[in-house]
Amino acid sequence: MTGDAVLAACADRLRGARHVAVLTGAGISAESGIPTFRDALTGLWARYRPEDLATPEAFARDPRLVWEWYAWRRAIVQQAKPNAGHHALARLGRLAPTCVLVTQNVDGLHQRAGSARVLELHGNILRTRCSREGRVVERWADGPEVPPRCAACGAPLRPDVVWFGEPLPVEALRAAWDAASLCDVFLSVGTSNLVEPAASLPWRAAAAGAEVIVINTAVAGQRTGPRIHHLVGCAGEVLPTLLAAAWPNRPTAAS
Ligand code: OAD
Repeated sequence: MTGDAVLAACADRLRGARHVAVLTGAGISAESGIPTFRDALTGLWARYRPEDLATPEAFARDPRLVWEWYAWRRAIVQQAKPNAGHHALARLGRLAPTCVLVTQNVDGLHQRAGSARVLELHGNILRTRCSREGRVVERWADGPEVPPRCAACGAPLRPDVVWFGEPLPVEALRAAWDAASLCDVFLSVGTSNLVEPAASLPWRAAAAGAEVIVINTAVAGQRTGPRIHHLVGCAGEVLPTLLAAAWPNRPTAAS
C-alpha cells in the first residue's frame, strides 16, 4: 500500500475505534528540543552511560553528579514547549474520550499541551522525592548543598523518575496494561520500544486483536506484522495529518 493509502486506512480505524491507547517515547518531544536517548550522536545515551547516571547505584556513588545531570535536563524541559504532536494527542483525547495516554517521557509536555489524564510510567523530572522516605517534593530550595535535602528528614532529594532496575509505579502500569488489553487501536509514537515493560504494551494490544499504528522517523528495528502499520515521519507532522484524515469535518481549533 502507498503511504497515503496506509494513512487513510489508519485514519478509518482510528475514527471507528471504541477504545484508543497511546504510548509515547522521547521521539515525540524531539521536536520540542529535548534530546532522545538512543538517537545516534544526539541521543543522551550516545554521550553518557545510563549506568553512570540513571541507576540507584549511580546516585549512591555520586549523588551530586546525578542530581546535576537531571538539573541540566530539567532546565531543558522547562525551556521546552509542547509541539504539534503533543497538541494533536491532547486533541485526540477530546475526539476519542476513551483514549488512554501512556508516556515513558518525564518532561510533562503532554500535560502542558492539555492532555487531561497522562499515565507517567517513568515518573516526572519536574518532581523530586525524598531518597529515604519516598515523599514527593514539588518545590525545593536549590542552595550550596547538592543534592538539596528533604525538609522532613534531611535525606538527600532525588529526581522523581524511575531508574534502571527500579519498579514502575504499580497503578500506572496496571492501567496501561489494561488499556493495551482493551483497546482496538494502539498508537505507538516516538519510541524505540527497547525498555520493558513499556516496550511490550503495543504487542500486548496486537495480541488482543488491536490494530497497532507505529509513528516513528525510523522503520529499522521496529516490529512488523499483520496488524502493525507504520507511518514514517516526525510525530509533529504525522499526528496532526492522521487526525485531520480521521476527522476531516472537525476544525482543529474547535476540538
Ligand atoms: P529512544 O531514544 O530509545 O527512542 C526514540 C525513538 O523516537 C526512536 O525510535 C527514534 O527513531 C524516534 N524519533 C526520533 N525523533 C522522532 C520524531 N520527531 N518523531 C517520531 N519519532 C522520532 O527513547 P524511548 O523509546 O522513549 O527510560 O526510550 C525509552 C526509555 O529508555 C526512556 O523512557 C528511558 C530510556 O532509558 C528510563 O530512563 C527508565
